[in-house]
Amino acid sequence: MLQNQVGNSVKKIITLLDELLGSAFEACGYEKRFGVATVSNRPDLCQYQCNGAMAAAKQYHKAPIAIANEVAAAVGEQEMLETCEAVAPGFININIKTEYLADYVLRMSSEEHFGVEPAENPRKVVIDYGGANVAKPLHVGHMRPAVIGEAVKRILRYVGHRVIGDAHLGDWGTPIGLIITELKVRQPDLVYFDPDYTGEYPKEPPFTVSELEEIYPYASKWSKEHDDYREESRKAILDLQQGRRGYMALWEHIMRISMEDLKKNYDNLGTVFDIWGKESDAQKYIPDMIKDMKENGYAHISEGALVVDVKEETDTKEVPPCMILKSDGATLYNTTDLATIVERMQLFAPEQTDQIIYVVDKRQDLYFDQIFRCARKTKLVNPDTILTFIGNGTMNGQDGKPFKTREGGVMRLEVLIESVAEEVMRKMEDRDFPKEEKREIAHKVGLAALKYGDLSNQATKDYIFDMERFTSFEGNTGPYILYTMVRIKSILAKIGELPAMPEKAGTYERGAEETKLLLTIARFADMVEKAAAELAPHKVCQYLFELADNVNGFYHANKIVAESDETKNNEWISILRTALAVFSDGIEMLGFEAPDRM
Ligand code: ARG
Repeated sequence: MLQNQVGNSVKKIITLLDELLGSAFEACGYEKRFGVATVSNRPDLCQYQCNGAMAAAKQYHKAPIAIANEVAAAVGEQEMLETCEAVAPGFININIKTEYLADYVLRMSSEEHFGVEPAENPRKVVIDYGGANVAKPLHVGHMRPAVIGEAVKRILRYVGHRVIGDAHLGDWGTPIGLIITELKVRQPDLVYFDPDYTGEYPKEPPFTVSELEEIYPYASKWSKEHDDYREESRKAILDLQQGRRGYMALWEHIMRISMEDLKKNYDNLGTVFDIWGKESDAQKYIPDMIKDMKENGYAHISEGALVVDVKEETDTKEVPPCMILKSDGATLYNTTDLATIVERMQLFAPEQTDQIIYVVDKRQDLYFDQIFRCARKTKLVNPDTILTFIGNGTMNGQDGKPFKTREGGVMRLEVLIESVAEEVMRKMEDRDFPKEEKREIAHKVGLAALKYGDLSNQATKDYIFDMERFTSFEGNTGPYILYTMVRIKSILAKIGELPAMPEKAGTYERGAEETKLLLTIARFADMVEKAAAELAPHKVCQYLFELADNVNGFYHANKIVAESDETKNNEWISILRTALAVFSDGIEMLGFEAPDRM
């Protein structure tokens, strides 16, 4: 919101058009629902279009152009419309009056969230988008869920939903068993391994964070080649799950050390969890959950294991049963996720959660299918609880395979973030900024490069990380968006004290670039509502890129600071201020920030 006055709630232009068209269709004796406007896919011909006559033609057995002609005539002269005309074979092309648009943008700038309509039925949403495992550093594979989930959370909040972001760290399964096993090999005399020990355990952990990070991959590799070792670690997990004291104490050490490290790293990425849930948190819900599943006949024993059948008649692929307990009685990843659902349904207590969204690597989609079916069948959720899986694609290297270090290893996320910031530093070589400030700018711009590069791709698609392209100050990139914002900031700074926002749009001939920019700004609310409905941050990226192009087109076509006509000058300044404010909200939704210069 830019002005203090509280405007009447501005309806979206597209809504106003729908109303006009709907009534016109009705007035001509057709169903109202055909009167739907969309942003034109031929901007060279018109700004908005309606294809309803094409669809109505089938139902009413009439030529589409005949219907389009009638409807366009019924729309008639309107305050907001420049033109509304039927064109062959039956489209209705619409242009808005430029002065109306200018007025609209002014009104919109005084609205909360620029006229985005708060969700009619605000949902209570839990979003699970961390998933990092303790005892392992955050690596590039964790970036996509963290970045996408953060954006989805912010977009949903922007339209009024209540959202809790949960880190859901992996702290309970196989990795912990492996670490305990390997520690026992390396330091068998540690008191944690003495089953008869009853005293207090040391406060200091028997390893450092870097030792821990070395132990896990080593043990993981070793276990793949040695059956007895794997068996040992399986046993260790079971002992831990049954509460063996020494193992619990070790687990607590592992947790404390790596939580600290993970928090630092998520923080560095700008990912802000509301709660730092862990797989272990759900363990206390397991006994009752299992009892319930057995008593209600949902679960049965199959080859010694406790399972719930989740296949459905319409399945075209094989969906195996959901395993709840292994034959040795140990719980699994599945059991934890189900018990976490029990926990999450209560997170908004006394009210219940309406939706749980998971942002996890898309290779887990069959798994989540099983979990969702099982949760529904066993009534862990209400019939109308929405369970959503956003399966993210992989960030690949230039070779099209999952991104690796030059040596072929897993790249730590902090290393990637740092190297992108360094590339931005190189791009700003000729800038004469104080060193400290330059580093800060590079970090901000680098994060924008990385996040925008990620979010501008649909979440489910794989993409190739391209350092050169992502960090470029031109083209469809995060830095280009920021650069455009910085450009506006510097124009506004040149003007110094800003004139009050005009109350009404002035009457003057507006150029094509100005009209295009106004039209884009005016579309903001519509775009945000769609991005929220489809959980699609890439729509915000697309929009910001278009906005940036239009701001730059407008900037090059007009001498903004030097313009002597006061009406024009004031209005241009107000347009730039609104654009900047819209950009700010947009990048905030995507989870990055703009520097003051770059
Ligand atoms: N820790 C898991 C892994 O590394 C990801 C967790 C994703 N979230 C979930 N609720 N299962 O595969």
